[in-house]
Amino acid sequence: MDIIAFGASNSKNSINKQLANFVANQFDADSIEMLDLNDYELPIYGIDKEKEIGVPQAAIAFYEKIQSGDLIIISLAEHNGSYTAVFKNLLDWMSRHEAKVFGNKKLFLLSTSPGGMGGKFVMDAALSRFPRHGAEIVGHFSLPSFSENFDTEKGIINNELKEKLAQIINSVK
Ligand SMILES: Cc1cc2nc3c(=O)[nH]c(=O)nc-3n(C[C@H](O)[C@H](O)[C@H](O)COP(=O)(O)O)c2cc1C
Repeated sequence: MDIIAFGASNSKNSINKQLANFVANQFDADSIEMLDLNDYELPIYGIDKEKEIGVPQAAIAFYEKIQSGDLIIISLAEHNGSYTAVFKNLLDWMSRHEAKVFGNKKLFLLSTSPGGMGGKFVMDAALSRFPRHGAEIVGHFSLPSFSENFDTEKGIINNELKEKLAQIINSVK
């Protein structure tokens, strides 16, 4: 199984990138490729911009990376209850190339934030929306209060949450 994973954030120290990386490594994968949204710089989507330049190569390249995996792991950062601007922009551009952005791939969805809700609102948005873009959501997990529950070396340090995640991962394997 080849895994493609990323944090849906452009922060260099993204906590969602850390969570996506940790969870990807819990699977017995043949390969894990971590994507960084900063490597796929895009103008802000607009219909006039699209008419002017078409769909940029960076959006197509990201779409193609998604198609190259057997399991996609995304950890969603939450900004004002929704997707980060950088991720929504990427999604909009990719959807102009192919509406089924996730290509009927298996998708494991994560979210985390410093707060106690762990990105619940962006998670809810993605759970209801991503199947329309061809995602087969096989599991989802939100990690609340990141700094209290995650250690850079050890990963999730709250035993209850660790066990909950392990059960979800086992149901996917
Ligand atoms: C503009 C902005 C809006 C935010 N809105 C929320 C929010 O609605 N819910 C939340 O839990 N955290 C919110 N946060 C805090 C983020 O969860 C926090 O910055 C987190 O580190 C983002 O994830 P990342 O490190 O993967 O980028 C917000 C942060 C910013 C800068």
